[in-house]
Amino acid sequence: MTSNQTLDTIFSRSSYRGDYKPIPVPRGDLTAIMKAGMAAPSGCNRQTASFIAVDDETLISQIRAIFPKPSCQTAPAMILVFTQEIASIDGHIYNVQDYGAAVQNMLLAIKSLGYETCWYEGNVRPCAEELAALLHVPEELRLVCLLPVGIPTDGPAKGPVKKPFEERAWFNGFGKN
Ligand SMILES: Cc1cc2nc3c(=O)[nH]c(=O)nc-3n(C[C@H](O)[C@H](O)[C@H](O)COP(=O)(O)O)c2cc1C
Repeated sequence: MTSNQTLDTIFSRSSYRGDYKPIPVPRGDLTAIMKAGMAAPSGCNRQTASFIAVDDETLISQIRAIFPKPSCQTAPAMILVFTQEIASIDGHIYNVQDYGAAVQNMLLAIKSLGYETCWYEGNVRPCAEELAALLHVPEELRLVCLLPVGIPTDGPAKGPVKKPFEERAWFNGFGKN
C-alpha cells in the first residue's frame, strides 16, 4: 500500500477514551485544529459548522460537571462543534455532512499534532443545551460534538478491528474483487 504522512495519520487514528497528561494544549495548536475543521468541504460552501475551543480551567471544570465522561475529567482542552441548518442553493440541507467532514478533519489534525481525542456525539446529546448555554451560544447553533484534546497517558489509542476490505469495498461493481 502507498505510504505517506496523510495516510499514516488516517490509519493510526482511533478513538481514545483514556486519561490525559496535565499538560496544556497551546493556543496555536487549538487554532490549527479549528482551522482544519474550517478547511473541510461543505455543501454549496455554506460552511455551517462552527467551533469553540475551551482551555479556561474554570470553564473546563464546569463542562466536566455537566458532561462527566471519565476521559474528559483530565483533558486539558476541548473543542465543541456546532451546526446550523442552512439550506443550500439547491434547497437541500447539508449541515450534517458539513460538520461530519469538519470533525474528521479535526480528528486527523489532532492526531497529527501528537494529541488524542474521541468524537463524543451520542453521549453529548442529553447535555448539549446545557453546554451551549454555558458558552453563551445563540440558539440557532446546535451543539453536536465534543472533542477532548490532550496528550494521552496510555499511549496512542488502539481502535476496534474494522471489517475486511472485501465486505465493504469493491472494484467495478458490487461484490467484485
Ligand atoms: C457520529 C459519531 C458519534 C459518536 N459518538 C460517540 C460517543 O458519544 N461516545 C463515544 O465513546 N464514542 C463515540 N463515537 C466514536 C465511535 O464509537 C468510534 O469512532 C467507533 O467505535 C470506531 O472506532 P475508532 O474511532 O477507534 O475507529 C462516535 C463516532 C461518530 C462518528
